[in-house]
Order: sequence, then C-alpha cells, then structure tokens
Amino acid sequence: MHYPSELVEAIKAQTTDLKLEDFLEGAGPLHPHLMIVGEAPGREEIESHIPFHGASGKELMRFLNLAGYQREDVYITSVVRSRPYSIKQVKDRRTGKIVTKYPNRTPSNKEVRIYAPLFDWELHQVQPDVIIPVGNTALHRLLGPDEVISAVHGQLIQHPVLEFNSATGQYQWSQANYQIVPMYHPAAVLYRRQLMPTVEADWQQLSQLV
Ligand code: URA
Repeated sequence: MHYPSELVEAIKAQTTDLKLEDFLEGAGPLHPHLMIVGEAPGREEIESHIPFHGASGKELMRFLNLAGYQREDVYITSVVRSRPYSIKQVKDRRTGKIVTKYPNRTPSNKEVRIYAPLFDWELHQVQPDVIIPVGNTALHRLLGPDEVISAVHGQLIQHPVLEFNSATGQYQWSQANYQIVPMYHPAAVLYRRQLMPTVEADWQQLSQLV
C-alpha cells in the first residue's frame, strides 16, 4: 500500500525520539475478504519488508491455509508500522562481556495513537469484508481496551470500530459497522503450545462464520 506522504511525514515527525525502527507498508489486494491486523513488525519483517514474515508469520500462514486462504488472498497490516524495540544490556554467554541488544517489544498506547490516522486511512482504502485483529493490541485499537482476546477469539462481532479524531485528540466510533473476528496472535501459540487446538479450531471455523 502506498500511503499519502503527508500522513507518513506527520508520523515521522512524532516518532523521532521514540524507539521505533524503519517503516513497513501493509500489503495485499484491495477489497479482500479478509484484512489481518497485527501489532507491529518485528526484526524479520523490517529486514524482509514483508509483513508477518518471521516465526509468527509462518504460523499465521498455516492458520490462513486452514481457513482456505493464501497470503496473496488477504491484506496484511498492523496498527504500528515500525518496529518497537527496547535497549537491554546483557551478558554474552560465550565471552562474558556486556553487550547491548535491541529486542522487539509491544508498542505503547501513545505509539498506537500516533499511527492511528494511517491505520484509519488504510482501512478505508482496503475495505475488507471481514477484519481479523490478531492479539490484544489490534483488538484494543479496533474495539477498545475492555475487550480481551481470550474472551472473544473466534467470534463474529458486528460493530463500529474506533477511529482517531485528530481535532479532539480522542478515538470515536466509526459511522460504519464492520464484521470483525478477533483471533489469538500467532506468537501466542509459540509461547503457549497448549493454545494450538483452540487457535486451529477458530481458523477452521472461520468460513462458517463469514
Ligand atoms: N507481528 C505483527 O503484529 N506483525 C508482523 O508483521 C509480525 C509480527
């Protein structure tokens, strides 16, 4: 997706002092059946410039296949388009020396808000039939912080989504109603293997819902 330069420049102006690396565009066809919304790119995505290209991406592709889709069929983006990182001093196990690492981290609410006008614009352009937020960060961006993925995963929710109003500096509900099916973030099954049957069942049942 090619974003309007004024939206991208406005974001860059607000993020110069934040620990955010690079900028990755969402990818996929316009007016798809599904739009997958993740949290933020990680290191592999920033290197390849392909959304969901690392370990989580591999799982996501497997889940899409279970639901009858390929990567090319769906639009893939995330609520923050740069890699949030932290700075950690750790002891190298081999040399015993202190080294600096820059691991991925979850974006802050402030970072999600800075990217909000871009995400709103993208959603209006893409116009998917169904939005699939994967994980709590994307779910909260769309439906607010009271929802939790463990309670609503795999369910069809027909509801307006939150859009950012730059004039008030607040989120507000969209005029339009959307079809939303929240899913666990694919990284969740990498950390908690016991979630796998639940997540696979959610994706297998998706075609019966929408
Ligand atoms: N997690 C996300 O939310 N997006 C990516 O592209 C990769 C991991």
